[in-house]
Amino acid sequence: MRVLVTGGAGFVGSHVAEALVREGCEVAVLDDLSTGHRRNLPRGVALYEGDVRDARFVELVFREVRPEAVSHQAAQASVARSVREPRLDADVNVLGLLVVLEAAARQGARRFVLASTGGALYGDVREPAGEDRPARPESPYGVDKWAGEEHLRLFAREHGLSAVALRYGNVYGPRQDPRGEAGVVAIFADALVRGRAPVIFGDGSQTRDYVYVEDVARANVLALRAPAPGPGGFRAYNVGTGVATDVRTLYARIRSAVGPEAPPEPIHGPPRPGDLRASVLDSRRIAAELGWRPTVDLDEGLRRTVAWVRAQAGRPEEG
Ligand SMILES: NC(=O)c1ccc[n+]([C@@H]2O[C@H](COP(=O)([O-])OP(=O)(O)OC[C@H]3O[C@@H](n4cnc5c(N)ncnc54)[C@H](O)[C@@H]3O)[C@@H](O)[C@H]2O)c1
Repeated sequence: MRVLVTGGAGFVGSHVAEALVREGCEVAVLDDLSTGHRRNLPRGVALYEGDVRDARFVELVFREVRPEAVSHQAAQASVARSVREPRLDADVNVLGLLVVLEAAARQGARRFVLASTGGALYGDVREPAGEDRPARPESPYGVDKWAGEEHLRLFAREHGLSAVALRYGNVYGPRQDPRGEAGVVAIFADALVRGRAPVIFGDGSQTRDYVYVEDVARANVLALRAPAPGPGGFRAYNVGTGVATDVRTLYARIRSAVGPEAPPEPIHGPPRPGDLRASVLDSRRIAAELGWRPTVDLDEGLRRTVAWVRAQAGRPEEG
């Protein structure tokens, strides 16, 4: 299968590209490298460097690659930035998606998988939220991912695409950029490995559903390969563990993965606008329909992430 991965030089997208290459797919990446890095790309994968909002460029890439399937990971992925710059968020996450959808339909792609969000879509939830829970986004990012899903559903029906939205929990693992504003695991692990105390925003009782990036990549592969939905169909799946972990507990577990050299106490800062109190996902639908289950538990995932962060610390910067 020929697959175009947008955002494939980013954190999640590069793991998706890697998993697809392992599966024997032909993979190309479209990315503007705004938060992604060339070094994240798997060996032998072509990079088309440009913006998903640039319709001419996107059309040219589709003409050249002729993908049978698209994994759309490119996005403005920071909730905090979406609060500061809501127009930018809508521009990339709604209009950029429509540009890619139009090119996909014109150039004959059949399957379209969208990276969506569970937490930011359902809003505050203390019990695992299923896919039928009404959307209650609390940030521009959540609103735009929701709008994106609805565009995808309607677009698929109009143009005979087969569409899947994957609603991720909080994805963590190697290659997550600690310099971004998203990715608490990367930020904490990076600070602790360097012997610095990280900042916890708010009182640290906020909960999230942390899901390891390779499990998320496998969910993408399954969604790209699944026989259903048929042409014109749309299906949404949560991709989480069903386990809620609060930030203080997460901090303690990362600290123990780092070892005794980690500073004992975090610094506390004010809560951030747009941040949810609680979020956890019910992923029984994807288990039943696609056979996906998380395989890496939090402690193992944190151990692998800390090992990666350690290996990176002190490495010279590269593109
Ligand atoms: N990381 C998470 O916890 C999480 C949770 C829910 C959903 N998601 C979604 O998963 C996807 C991947 O997120 P990530 O965490 O890997 O973020 P990331 O920032 O590492 O990846 C996004 C990639 O898209 C590229 N990109 C951004 N704007 C672009 C544009 N206008 N044109 C072309 N490329 C562009 C970036 O350079 C980057 O490589 C996003 O759609 C995000 O919204 C992530």
